[in-house]
Amino acid sequence: MKNILVTGGTGFIGSHTCFSLLSEGYNVYVIDSLVNSSKKSLLYIEEIFRRKDIDISNKLRFFEGDIRKKDFINYIFKTALKEKKPIDGVIHFAGLKDVAESVIKPLNYWENNFFGSYNLIKSMKENNCKTIVFSSSATVYGFSSDNLLSEDTQLKPINPYGSTKLAVEKLLNDITQDANENWKIAILRYFNPIGSHESGLIGENPFQKPNNIFPAIINSAYTKEKLKVFGNDWPTKDGTCIRDYIHVMDLAESHLKSLNYLIENDPQLLILNIGKGRGISVIELIKTFENVNNISVPFEFDKRREGDVCQLVADNSKLKSILNWSPTKSLEEMCIDGWKWKNLNPKGYL
Ligand code: NAD
Ligand code: WQD
Repeated sequence: MKNILVTGGTGFIGSHTCFSLLSEGYNVYVIDSLVNSSKKSLLYIEEIFRRKDIDISNKLRFFEGDIRKKDFINYIFKTALKEKKPIDGVIHFAGLKDVAESVIKPLNYWENNFFGSYNLIKSMKENNCKTIVFSSSATVYGFSSDNLLSEDTQLKPINPYGSTKLAVEKLLNDITQDANENWKIAILRYFNPIGSHESGLIGENPFQKPNNIFPAIINSAYTKEKLKVFGNDWPTKDGTCIRDYIHVMDLAESHLKSLNYLIENDPQLLILNIGKGRGISVIELIKTFENVNNISVPFEFDKRREGDVCQLVADNSKLKSILNWSPTKSLEEMCIDGWKWKNLNPKGYL
């Protein structure tokens, strides 16, 4: 398998995964509508390779377009075929991911995340491409009292964003029931990806004011505006919420490992939690960021954020046993690399 279509490939996780795929010698076709990203991320990927005297320009093709248009997806499959590089598999990141926005604009989320995925899967079938790795999220678990979330934990999303992710999971599950179709599918449920490539040349580039903790920490360290820490009265060691942070390069690597696993094994549906399996509190994250970067992060406590859960940590034993792999990068590396990206690109890709 040589040629991979990456939907949402100019975005945060997509761009890092494109880098990993290219490093492993894959040809990469990217489709992205640029609704939440810049195609400059691909230029910076080329720059990382150029610095190692490697020219990847003929291995990376960008198609600006929307997965809500099936004809456009078909066009990419046909183009790849004409170029004698037929698409062997798809890594599917494209989608909207802002939980709060999904509550206000649920139809937009269903259209982009569900209908877009439906189109993609239909186009894959029409073009006889049956291998896909799908970006799901720990958000499909909703509120859970389990300390560690295993893949068997009950799925109960609590917002439209989560509902669309679960709906795509169900669609993927349904199509694998037809054994004649030979689908090879991996559903990866990410926990909290942060950091950036160690070069600091690619990273997270949110178009709107960041709602997630890591871009918010970076913003406060940079601007000295006070970060609001949502709640210090949670039943945890320091009263702040616990999450399972994973370096985005580890997350990218997990896509390669999953893809290779699918290639080498029989048709199946594989569902994996992708996290480090280690709970970190908001205060621990802030303090680690301050220490390793020698910079202060001004913050104040605020009330709990509506819809927050106290703790979300992966049971990643299935990941370890099936892929024989686990994330290696430390919280310190996540903080160093993320801050490097900010300092090299204070305005993102603008
Ligand atoms: P991102 O917004 O940086 O990347 C998503 C990309 O998809 C963007 O480049 C955007 O322009 C593109 N896109 C959106 N709708 C599209 C459409 N209809 N057609 C074509 N392109 C479209 O987000 P990310 O953090 O890189 O997330 C990637 C995927 O991982 C998403 O599906 C997200 O739901 C999922 N995910 C992210 C996180 C996280 O914390 N970042 C956690 C769990 C799951
Ligand atoms: C982490 C912790 C906040 C911002 C979200 C999505 C989920 C997934 C990952 C895509 C919480 C606290 C945050 C701030 C704070 N994305 N916080 N001040 O809530 O685990 O999950 O991102 O799939 O779907 O819901 O991540 O980064 O928003 O919050 O104190 O300014 O940081 O209360 O405890 P979360 P997060």
